[in-house]
Amino acid sequence: MAMPRPTRSKSAASRPNTRSAAQPDAPTAAAQVPRLQPPAHQHKKPAHAAGKRSKARRQVFAPGSAAEYELEVLPGIEMVALQELEGVAQVRDIRGGRFWYPLDPTRLTRLRGSVAVYRVKTFAVPRPKALLGHQLLQEVISYLRSVQSYGQHKSFRISAAGRETSTMQRLAEVISTELGIAHDPQDGEMLIRLRPSENPNFGPPDPETGERLAEEGWDILARITPRPLSARAWRVCNRAGGLNATIAFALLKLAGVREADRIFNPMSGSGTLLIERDLLGPSAALVGVDIDADAVECAQQNILAAGRQIEVAQVDAQATGLPPRSFDLIVSDLPWGDAVTVAGGNEALYSEFLKEMYRLLSRQGRLVVLTHEIRLFERLLGEQTRWHSRELFQVYSGGHHPKAYLLSKK
Ligand SMILES: C[S@@+](CC[C@H](N)C(=O)[O-])C[C@H]1O[C@@H](n2cnc3c(N)ncnc32)[C@H](O)[C@@H]1O
Repeated sequence: MAMPRPTRSKSAASRPNTRSAAQPDAPTAAAQVPRLQPPAHQHKKPAHAAGKRSKARRQVFAPGSAAEYELEVLPGIEMVALQELEGVAQVRDIRGGRFWYPLDPTRLTRLRGSVAVYRVKTFAVPRPKALLGHQLLQEVISYLRSVQSYGQHKSFRISAAGRETSTMQRLAEVISTELGIAHDPQDGEMLIRLRPSENPNFGPPDPETGERLAEEGWDILARITPRPLSARAWRVCNRAGGLNATIAFALLKLAGVREADRIFNPMSGSGTLLIERDLLGPSAALVGVDIDADAVECAQQNILAAGRQIEVAQVDAQATGLPPRSFDLIVSDLPWGDAVTVAGGNEALYSEFLKEMYRLLSRQGRLVVLTHEIRLFERLLGEQTRWHSRELFQVYSGGHHPKAYLLSKK
């Protein structure tokens, strides 16, 4: 196949997408991802909250008709996810990944930097067992029913410390009966998480001071979509080592989204970076290469499913044959571990890659690299004098901790 020349990338969004969306639930470890930490001052409860109230309240503070939500984000890229959230009109009272939103949540399901979005409701109970009381149980069910009627989930699962306890089992039974959906502890579509509340705005105002009192309670979070947001509908082909789409989004946002950029994605694999970049807006050119014919075919399937038109070709990224300074932005998720194609392993590959990218990048261009081979990559950077480099983030995903760097020519 001939090497693609940089051309203006075109959106084919107007074409109907007839592919089925077999989405891998990439972040299956989602439930283990810690919640975003609110700023330090928001951890503090008001001093007067130390004396607990005797009567448990059943209503959660709700400003107007807004509902409370929480984002799940891969640790390390919180700043990108929060910046994206801040751009959503009418989102308010953001504390860590938690916020209030008064409108239909569909806009929230279009967030690309978050793994998932949950509806949150806080119950003023000292322990989950109290949720089984008749009145509270009705409230739990009506809350989960509203989430289910929005997301049309066909099954559910519960993530909580002690989910094998009789309380959790009883809760699961009632949810299944009342919502008419199956309890599937492994793959349930509505992920329901129970955990002690840290909501400082909990409880009605003190009648004398008007301040809201913190109080012990439990949060019930329910994922509003049947699949995580990171499991993109365009991913009809998946490959080992495929990049989590929220990491791709973070890399591209931090690289800068400029319409005038001619963009190159060497080692494009299943095409995650190419598709996510094209979805962010037009560019002067967008081209991907991979040395593996199956990877090229896989990327092409995903590109078609995404309704985009992006050129991908089978080419060795170490020797592309492209003219010098063809690109303003090069973004790459480098191979790691055993996924190496050259004698000499990753060391030789990374070294040749850096040389070829230096040749291909324009004078003011940016090279953004994600790698798991952190020690090797940093050693190579330390041994050279042609690149400035800056760390962008280290992300924690599925037991891996790759780092992202931004390089520019000295
Ligand atoms: C970590 S994977 C990229 C995954 C990709 N970001 C995705 O989302 O699927 C690395 C890719 O580099 C490709 N690769 C390895 N050596 C290469 C080379 N010399 N030239 C071009 N591609 C190469 C592999 O075939 C593999 O698809």
